[in-house]
Amino acid sequence: MTEFSGNTYFKISSQKVAQSCPSNIALIKYWGKYAGQIPANPSISYTLSNCKTNTELEFIAEDKFSVQTFLAGKEEVKFASKIEKYFKSIEEYLPWILKGKYIIRTENTFPHSSGIASSASGFGAVAKCLMALDEIFSGSLDCDTKLRKESFLARLGSGSACRSLYDGLVVWGETREVAGSSDLYAVPYPDSDIHDVFRNFNDWVLLIHEGEKSVSSTVGHSLMNTNPYAERRFQEAHENFSTLKRILKTGDLTAFFQLVEHEALTLHAMMMMSEPAFILMKSGTLNVINKIWEFRKETGLPLSFTLDAGANVHLLFPANKQEDRIKEFIVKELLQFTQNNGVVKDVMNF
Ligand code: DP6
Repeated sequence: MTEFSGNTYFKISSQKVAQSCPSNIALIKYWGKYAGQIPANPSISYTLSNCKTNTELEFIAEDKFSVQTFLAGKEEVKFASKIEKYFKSIEEYLPWILKGKYIIRTENTFPHSSGIASSASGFGAVAKCLMALDEIFSGSLDCDTKLRKESFLARLGSGSACRSLYDGLVVWGETREVAGSSDLYAVPYPDSDIHDVFRNFNDWVLLIHEGEKSVSSTVGHSLMNTNPYAERRFQEAHENFSTLKRILKTGDLTAFFQLVEHEALTLHAMMMMSEPAFILMKSGTLNVINKIWEFRKETGLPLSFTLDAGANVHLLFPANKQEDRIKEFIVKELLQFTQNNGVVKDVMNF
């Protein structure tokens, strides 16, 4: 029995539930994991506001377990088999889960090909739907325990998804810098340790290259098992946590940008040093990075970037009185490197 084992007394019935969950963008990256979705190092992310997955889950109580999924109205067989496997793997925590048929309809508020992590918002939304059903079938949990279990279940679907269950800055993975942090679920970063400048931040995602990523995160994480630099990287992520803790408290934006950019480039450097190697940045990615560095040097204005495991660039800048000049620069100088002027505008506000 663990804290998350499910109640073996339950009463099922056919139900329809709907939930929504945002995506998130990591500042200190999760890249590398151990068996059972245990992260090799702690990570911290901002939960986005506009980029969300909306999911409706219909449960039909019957003898045969099956899953059917629709993404934006179109049946997705590949996603259904992923969900089927996932549901089978979490029966210990939701003992009723294999006792029916599921029809899952899901849609993202951001373009499918944008490279914005739909697995984070997607598994976050599914975990929330499952816990809504669990509440009906097995009785309710107190709010904190329910959230923790949602995060725990989301993690088993996709690691980064566990951070999407909370607003603001969210930590996943045990670190001595954050009391209560865990490898099993995410926790909110302590509110009293966050300077105001970080509470209102823009994240504009430049869509440099739309389309499928050339490395899945499953493959990417597994490449860290044989990467000779992996151990040093995991250690560095821990060190970066202590640095970030001071930065978040003091509001030192210069140090924040230095650390966040270093994290992004390290993620890509790790991929380039893997065997086989992957280069996910495109020439547009590099052009944007260089332009940002020039702009910051010339104007001193607070514009920075981070990257996911893909070519797109997340532009990070505080939502304050300087933001108009930064937005003007983005439109004039950076949009040219996107495909079809693609930009997804999000904001973190908490
Ligand atoms: C680069 O959470 O997608 O976005 O656990 O295999 O589903 P799985 O991986 P996933 O990996 C995300 C990697 C990252 C960094 C991060 O979000 O921390």
